[in-house]
Amino acid sequence: MSRAQYDVMRRIVEEVTGIIFNDGDMEFMVRRLKPLALRFGCKDFDEFSSKARRGTTVVRNSLVDAVTTRETLWFRDRYFESLIGGHLLPTLAEEAIGAGRSKLKIWSAASSSGQEAYSIAMLLAEAQNKGTLGTLRMENCLIHGTDISLAALESARKGCYDGVAMARGLPPALKARYFDRVDGGFQVKERLRRLTRFDRLNLLQMDQRRGNYDMILLRNVLIYFTKEARTKILDRMAIKLRPGGVLVVGGSEDPLRYSSLWTRERMPSGTGAYFKAKV
Ligand SMILES: C[S@@+](CC[C@H](N)C(=O)[O-])C[C@H]1O[C@@H](n2cnc3c(N)ncnc32)[C@H](O)[C@@H]1O
Repeated sequence: MSRAQYDVMRRIVEEVTGIIFNDGDMEFMVRRLKPLALRFGCKDFDEFSSKARRGTTVVRNSLVDAVTTRETLWFRDRYFESLIGGHLLPTLAEEAIGAGRSKLKIWSAASSSGQEAYSIAMLLAEAQNKGTLGTLRMENCLIHGTDISLAALESARKGCYDGVAMARGLPPALKARYFDRVDGGFQVKERLRRLTRFDRLNLLQMDQRRGNYDMILLRNVLIYFTKEARTKILDRMAIKLRPGGVLVVGGSEDPLRYSSLWTRERMPSGTGAYFKAKV
């Protein structure tokens, strides 16, 4: 791949996904796109980029799957369990009950292969067992996962994970309680899978209608975008929460750097930050 071909290709990738490839990422892009160019019978990257630009659905979808980094794991951040399971879910449940609502609606935006959504489902089940959801039933809750990658959505919907994926951050007790052994690995139990729905969404094409989510998880995805794209997504997300709803981001991420529509909150212990919308 020449530098000129790289520039054309990374412009196309940014238009389609919002993902930025920096000057030093050419080797990485070649590794990701070479097999794809061969698969579509292209003799070089010029041919592949014009094919990608013309954009049949199959080429575009494969391009998205090839350039997205879908790295994910169970729970993932240090405060995830105490922040979400110990504090946010009980608080949101109490608020919902007080307002006469009987369910929580949670959005895992950029859900990858589903570990984030199913981590929330396990925390809901654990909270219900401990009685910290009050009268709210987890069966009424929805965990809505969205992602731009069809490959990610397909594996999220199956909820099946091999031994390597299972070993990444999942406590053995939760593995025993919430997974069935299946061919080639483990599958999330049906009663948790039933709480979830996975749909395709490009965060850069999010509509501007008001939403009614109680909690949004936007973790480890903004890092791939330009500053402008981060601002656009965070600004639009602010109206997707119902009043009192909360945004949870990745351990080292700070939405206040990109959008003025959020305020930072902390757990009573002073650890584990989350965010509320001003609008
Ligand atoms: C590193 S994973 C993060 C998964 C999970 N949120 C976590 O923290 O473990 C990033 C995900 O963002 C998705 N993604 C990248 N660009 C996107 C876009 N424009 N719209 C929606 N999802 C996108 C990728 O397909 C990938 O699954």
